[in-house]
Amino acid sequence: MQKPAPVDYPVHELIRNRWSPRAFSEKPVPPEILRSLFEAARWAPSSNNEQPWAFLVATKDDPETHSRLLSTLVEFNQTWAKHAPVLAIAVSELEFARTGHPNRNAFYDTGAAVAGVTLEATARGLFVHQMAGFDPHKAIELFHIPKGWEPIAAFAIGFPGDPQTLPEDLRARELGGRARKPLADFVMSARWGNPAPFLK
Ligand SMILES: Cc1cc2nc3c(=O)[nH]c(=O)nc-3n(C[C@H](O)[C@H](O)[C@H](O)COP(=O)(O)O)c2cc1C
Repeated sequence: MQKPAPVDYPVHELIRNRWSPRAFSEKPVPPEILRSLFEAARWAPSSNNEQPWAFLVATKDDPETHSRLLSTLVEFNQTWAKHAPVLAIAVSELEFARTGHPNRNAFYDTGAAVAGVTLEATARGLFVHQMAGFDPHKAIELFHIPKGWEPIAAFAIGFPGDPQTLPEDLRARELGGRARKPLADFVMSARWGNPAPFLK
């Protein structure tokens, strides 16, 4: 299912076509595609080129790891994410490896890496649905995540599925519209709250 963004200004079709479905096909994601998705993450920019990210990835052909990762999600997310053939957790390293100083951009850089995954996925006809609704403490325990690393967000990856397979409330959200704040709310100049002049 396509759900292109009703943009106010033209953007690249990858940006327009990316969205976060909850209906996923059970079709597996071939390993060569997974390699490309995480290669896209690898080439994200990061503060000091620290690359402070790591990914735990579970595919359905390893059912034990897939269900262990699924068990870290909140119940709401489990209801739909259990069908996704690939589940992942993005993890950030909180300190610079070389100096031990706090890396205040670690989360930011990890988000940029996941953005790379989402766009590479869109280009290949796949979708990514990110989730804050998971238990980071459980993820640390179940996947032996070392001290100094923090699980930030989970995400599901897969080919689009049939929205009719979703429970009614989720189906309505799947088929509903997409909305965003206008640019003038968050692109400012001269002083806070002042919309940038190029918006006029
Ligand atoms: C960091 C992050 C956390 C999110 N957490 C959840 C979640 O726990 N459950 C869920 O169903 N969607 C979650 N979403 C998806 C957002 O609701 C979705 O991206 C937003 O509504 C915009 O829709 P779009 O991605 O289709 O444009 C999350 C997205 C992000 C980026």
